[in-house]
Amino acid sequence: MQWFFLVGFMGVGKTTLGAAVAKKLGLHFYDLDEQIELDTGARIPEIFATEGEERFRDYETRVLEKLIATGSGGIVATGGGTFTLERNRALMARAGAAVWLDAPIDVIVERVGGDERPLWRNEAEARALAERRKKYYRLAKHHLELGTDSTEDGTARLYGLLESHIGDS
Ligand code: S3P
Repeated sequence: MQWFFLVGFMGVGKTTLGAAVAKKLGLHFYDLDEQIELDTGARIPEIFATEGEERFRDYETRVLEKLIATGSGGIVATGGGTFTLERNRALMARAGAAVWLDAPIDVIVERVGGDERPLWRNEAEARALAERRKKYYRLAKHHLELGTDSTEDGTARLYGLLESHIGDS
């Protein structure tokens, strides 16, 4: 079965748009952070606080592997850091296609708070992190520039993109 992996910075809309488009296309939808929480029985901020980022990244890869191994196919909203690791990019490239959801950092900053996001310490750090990560996100097979699109417009555009690639191998 075919997989689409939504990658891109925190707050860009990977979960919101991914869930909406999966519903419209009749595909399974998974949120990788949620899968990590189910697998470990701990909340993401708790994992960062008690075990640190490196352990979190181990869980992230393990859960990604498990998900792909189910063979169900579908749309996966990854975490903002997932695609920065070569091992995860390799897993995703073998199983399907990555789609970079991209929006200007100013737009993201407007709507994101850091409560549930351990790596969003403050606006300045978030901006710097987004900049450093672009070189990885660019490696995704597809690129969707959302600009200031509303959720509705973003959903329609992601739907169009994925629909045109269903059946690609
Ligand atoms: C992270 C992003 C988060 C979550 C974790 C680390 C990151 O996911 O995986 O807090 O490294 O950017 P979202 O992109 O869904 O916020």
